[in-house]
Amino acid sequence: MSTEVLSPSAKEETATDFLPLMGTDYVEFYVGNAKQAAHYYKTAFGFQSLAYAGPETGVKDRASYVVRQNKLTFVLTTPIRENNEIARHIAKHGDGVKVLALKVADATSAWEETTKRGGKSYLEPTTLKDNEGELVMSGIHTYGDTVHLFIERKSYSGVFMPGYRKWESVYNPPSTGLLYVDHCVGNVGWNQMNPWVKFYEDVMGFKNILSFDDNDISTEYSALMSKVMSNGNGYVKFPINEPAEGKKKSQVEEYLEFYNGEGVQHVALATHNIIETVTALKNRGVEFVKIPPSYYATVLERVGHIDEDLKPLSELGILIDRDDEGYLLQIFSKPVEDRPTLFFEIIQRKGAKSFGKGNFKALFEAIEREQAERGNL
Ligand code: FE2
Repeated sequence: MSTEVLSPSAKEETATDFLPLMGTDYVEFYVGNAKQAAHYYKTAFGFQSLAYAGPETGVKDRASYVVRQNKLTFVLTTPIRENNEIARHIAKHGDGVKVLALKVADATSAWEETTKRGGKSYLEPTTLKDNEGELVMSGIHTYGDTVHLFIERKSYSGVFMPGYRKWESVYNPPSTGLLYVDHCVGNVGWNQMNPWVKFYEDVMGFKNILSFDDNDISTEYSALMSKVMSNGNGYVKFPINEPAEGKKKSQVEEYLEFYNGEGVQHVALATHNIIETVTALKNRGVEFVKIPPSYYATVLERVGHIDEDLKPLSELGILIDRDDEGYLLQIFSKPVEDRPTLFFEIIQRKGAKSFGKGNFKALFEAIEREQAERGNL
């Protein structure tokens, strides 16, 4: 009924971690216009141009723009021909996340260990070469049409990977202080959360570190359930949501309808100074879900002392939550495409390792107001 915190013992992890992950390597989005999407992530989010692949580099069916900010790397890919996998993906889902790429020391072993445990192969271990060395990649399918690629870079010193060239631009807007991927959340269908929890346990050796049921995450109208999966060292965390019965349509159901299936709901991006980061993002046009002023009237009674002034947090609409280890500050963007599908979370952790359970109700009521505006509640 209530939140369950499970802390796997460190000893157990090292003994059983058959898939050691060094973190997120990159997130690849399939989009309708990669050139313009790359411009958006530079302008609005403060990414820098890094690399490009397309007809000029010998890639015939697509164009990909790679942008980077600190340890965050996004790849924006678009089809330049019909009748390919990317074109079909976009026709079905709209813009969205295709690849959650994970950094590994050995991409061949990662593929062997996961496929022998039931993972469905997406890409057999493949070595890509150019003058800068060799990069090995492999991959498996996860929920919906989403995939995990395993990226082994130890023998590669190029700008991104073979097939890409350096992308130099005269337009280099300043960073907004975004640092790395904190977690990536997947939305799955009715009764599909536990099968996907089992997939991450069995195939990838992850552990369920937190669970939320519909009593934790419900409003007057809608509900959802969520389990947080983490790899052994905690660098990679994938919460999995499924809808739960409510009076009206939940945000997960709205997502599943408009994405035409399961997929990545949000990517959480870490910052060391959420007030500066969100101020910069807002000034550059990123839109966030609006939180009612009443939230701030009582929040400090719930979370206790925080280092920040409440005023800028309330002006920006930043949410606060606390767990046994500290507190966190978080805010959620509106969907970043026309369909109500993918959005971003900005998060600053000050000790807390949880995901903002205390904010769920206020946040979901705010999201429902926007769903209602779209006629989807
Ligand atoms: Fe999140």
